Amino acid sequence: MALELSKKASLVGRSLKDIEKYGEKGTAYLGKVVMSSGERPVLGRKILCDIAKPHVMLICGKRGGGKSYTLSVLLEEFARQPMDIRKRISVIAIDTVGIFWTLKIANKLETKELQKWDLKPDRTNVRVLVPKGKLAFYRKKKLPVDDAFTIKTSELDVTEWLALFKLTWKDAEGILLTRIIEDLKEQLGTLYGIDEIITAIMKDTDSENNARKALVNRFRVSESWGLFEKEGTRIKEIAKAGEITIIDVSAYRQAIGMEGTRDIIVGLLGKKLFEERMLYRKEEEVKLTEGLKRESEMPIIWMLIDEAHMFMPKDEDNIALHVLLEWVRVGRQPGLSLVLATQRPNKLHPDAISQCDLFISHRMTSQPDIEAVSQLRPSYLHQNFDKYYQEMPKAKGYALILDDNTEKLWMVKIRPRFSWDGGVTATAFTD
Ligand SMILES: Nc1ncnc2c1ncn2[C@@H]1O[C@H](COP(=O)(O)OP(=O)(O)OP(=O)(O)O)[C@@H](O)[C@H]1O
Ligand SMILES: [Mg+2]
Repeated sequence: MALELSKKASLVGRSLKDIEKYGEKGTAYLGKVVMSSGERPVLGRKILCDIAKPHVMLICGKRGGGKSYTLSVLLEEFARQPMDIRKRISVIAIDTVGIFWTLKIANKLETKELQKWDLKPDRTNVRVLVPKGKLAFYRKKKLPVDDAFTIKTSELDVTEWLALFKLTWKDAEGILLTRIIEDLKEQLGTLYGIDEIITAIMKDTDSENNARKALVNRFRVSESWGLFEKEGTRIKEIAKAGEITIIDVSAYRQAIGMEGTRDIIVGLLGKKLFEERMLYRKEEEVKLTEGLKRESEMPIIWMLIDEAHMFMPKDEDNIALHVLLEWVRVGRQPGLSLVLATQRPNKLHPDAISQCDLFISHRMTSQPDIEAVSQLRPSYLHQNFDKYYQEMPKAKGYALILDDNTEKLWMVKIRPRFSWDGGVTATAFTD
């Protein structure tokens, strides 16, 4: 069969034409094909997945099914690309749980399992960034953080502040906030921080004292998050070519009232990356028309989001949702790829499901979730999803891969990780 490059590998996510042109270059080794039924199936050829071109990948599965593990395998593969591919790609992983830093440590626990796959434990070169104000929190926990980042205060528009503070434009505070931000933009352009906002609120004479006090309080609280700065980290510092950057936002999980900060981080990052890539894409096109190589300062981007239903919910609004929907719908052209992992596809925005071209599903048991992904019922599926899940071995790491590019379906076992698994289920035992 044409898609089977060698006896050893099959490729998903890549057209026949590209397979002929590029072969196995720019692919990720995800696992092996399941060749027989039963709980201990025979494994066959390697499954490789294209990562050189834009994709929307959805990874589903019930709790503990292996989604984060599979994301880590992907991250490991990005880090092991040959230099010419790596320098064209920048990978950003949004870590809501704080588990991906363990990629830095070799997986000595699974040496035997790795041996069975002809692999060895190895550390993976990733860069962990945390919000500046939370740096001390991470350091106290002795987590190997590489650097801190902040968001430029003026990047937030009125709508984003309103969402962050859970206000509407009809509230007295919302009206005041709208006026203040618009005035500041007019007077100072992009050069203002929270201090300037607070001063402007206090000086305002057209508002009630109570509204002013309440709004100042909100800004003071937001100052304490250590996320906003007048200057902010430049997007090029975050999306570096050849680097795998973990944006750890797990510290905001602990505190009530801070959930919105995660959405703002993902929303603004997504927006900036989209804008930048659109610009650079044009530069690359010009170079191509001049007979030069398709190169620019801004690499193509892969963003991996664990627990994606938090940022792209079906039934509620979220500041990150609109941005990510843009990525999903038109990201291909500027070179933006998304990998969305969720245990609740039923809670995920349906466009994220219908637009994915690579679907990786670990075991699922909840009927509403199975129904949600059943909208992906291409002609090359021979039976209902339920049946495939019933046939899937119960042990961890098995998955179904649906590939729109080659119009094929595979049952696979994801390979063991080279690096330490930070997602291991907590138990009361100490060994
Ligand atoms: N491919 C695999 N090979 C071996 N073990 C695996 C594999 N995938 C998952 N596991 C095991 O299952 C555990 C749970 O996996 P993981 O943390 O990826 O689940 P999850 O789907 O992300 O769950 P949650 O929804 O709770 O976040 C892992 O810690 C690991 O021990
Ligand atoms: Mg997980």
